[in-house]
Amino acid sequence: MSAIFRSPPIIHYGAGALEQLGPTARELGLRQVLLVTDPGMVQLGVADKARSQLEAAAVCVVVFDGVQPDPTLANVEAGLTVLRQQGCDGLVAIGGGSPIDCAKAIAVRHTHPEPLPEFAGVEKFPRPGLPLIAVPTTAGTGSEVTRVMVITDTDRDVKMMFASRSCLAAAAIVDPVLTLGMPKGLTAAVGVDALTHALEAYVSRRAQPQTDLLALSAIRLIAHNLRTAYHDGSNLEARSAVMLGAMQAGLAFSNASVALVHGMARPLGACFHLTHGLSIAVLLPAVTEFSQSSAPERYARAAFEMGQQDIVGALRHLNRDVGIPKLRNLNVPAERFESLLDKMAADALASGSPANNPRQASAEEIVALYRRVYAETA
Ligand SMILES: NC(=O)c1ccc[n+]([C@@H]2O[C@H](COP(=O)([O-])OP(=O)(O)OC[C@H]3O[C@@H](n4cnc5c(N)ncnc54)[C@H](O)[C@@H]3O)[C@@H](O)[C@H]2O)c1
Ligand SMILES: [Fe+2]
Repeated sequence: MSAIFRSPPIIHYGAGALEQLGPTARELGLRQVLLVTDPGMVQLGVADKARSQLEAAAVCVVVFDGVQPDPTLANVEAGLTVLRQQGCDGLVAIGGGSPIDCAKAIAVRHTHPEPLPEFAGVEKFPRPGLPLIAVPTTAGTGSEVTRVMVITDTDRDVKMMFASRSCLAAAAIVDPVLTLGMPKGLTAAVGVDALTHALEAYVSRRAQPQTDLLALSAIRLIAHNLRTAYHDGSNLEARSAVMLGAMQAGLAFSNASVALVHGMARPLGACFHLTHGLSIAVLLPAVTEFSQSSAPERYARAAFEMGQQDIVGALRHLNRDVGIPKLRNLNVPAERFESLLDKMAADALASGSPANNPRQASAEEIVALYRRVYAETA
């Protein structure tokens, strides 16, 4: 059976890669870009670093810093307005997955007049978007190399998933130096998210030889370096390994898909305003325990790459070592949780991701899994 593997045509990676931002914008023929970022990146001076690299290459910069964590349709429309008012010919996103996803959405909205929700799902955009250079500052989502973007519809409390070649960046600049300042909690949550991308890509029904290689490498790199990156944030070697792993995990899942953990995490995050990384991390061990029996060899190999024998134990250990809290301690009131279980299970199934899981889950089984995770105390 044949398979297809897509990735951005240009990927600069490794310490110092940010210096390639200006030359890459030139290579793509960009003259004036919308720099999409968030207030945190502006405050930390990271957005300015990107701006000076671009200006040194004679590329004009218009800053849009109106992205909130888990970007919304309103964020996208606000960015689009600035892009059009200023006549930008491309975009640069600097930040975590939120600014990168928001920039992807602005880029495709510019070339598609219809409302964005009409394109949710797989390969629904008929045209490419404006060119985008993605510069991640978290070692997590892999969005810089994926064809995926996630935008929240706040009216319906739904995180919409879009997977399309039109959502691939024209170039990715992956510089681990940008992640040195990540606080501990963020390092942990986005790191476990990246590990989940790799694990779900590896056990996905759509796994392929090329994604297997990347997924196994990512599992190894993240499992062996995340604890050090968490405890000693200034350790460039550990940060570099985790960032490389996160990028490889992105390439893997973008082509092999994620599965049940991501399917269940999106509604949980949307209903209780949990960050993407945390909603993934709290679900990962229990959902893996559920799925394990349908792909025992694959899960055993993943455990081996983590330096352990039992995958569920390895994941619980890692969560504990990097301080991932339990769901019940994350401001998720029991009554509201119970009342939203059926909606969350329906939204999880509707996203399509669970269909790629090695073990198929019914709505009832998903509800039971949510309950099991909520009952976890230690
Ligand atoms: N497109 C994809 O393939 C894909 C995959 C997974 C997740 N996502 C999406 O990505 C989003 C989450 O992205 P994220 O987890 O990277 O976080 P984020 O972009 O939401 O950032 C969270 C916070 O961390 C701050 N931050 C970012 N980098 C920092 C740094 N180096 N130092 C200090 N603070 C920093 C930001 O300013 C922000 O306040 C979600 O919307 C999720 O759905 C997308
Ligand atoms: Fe994720």
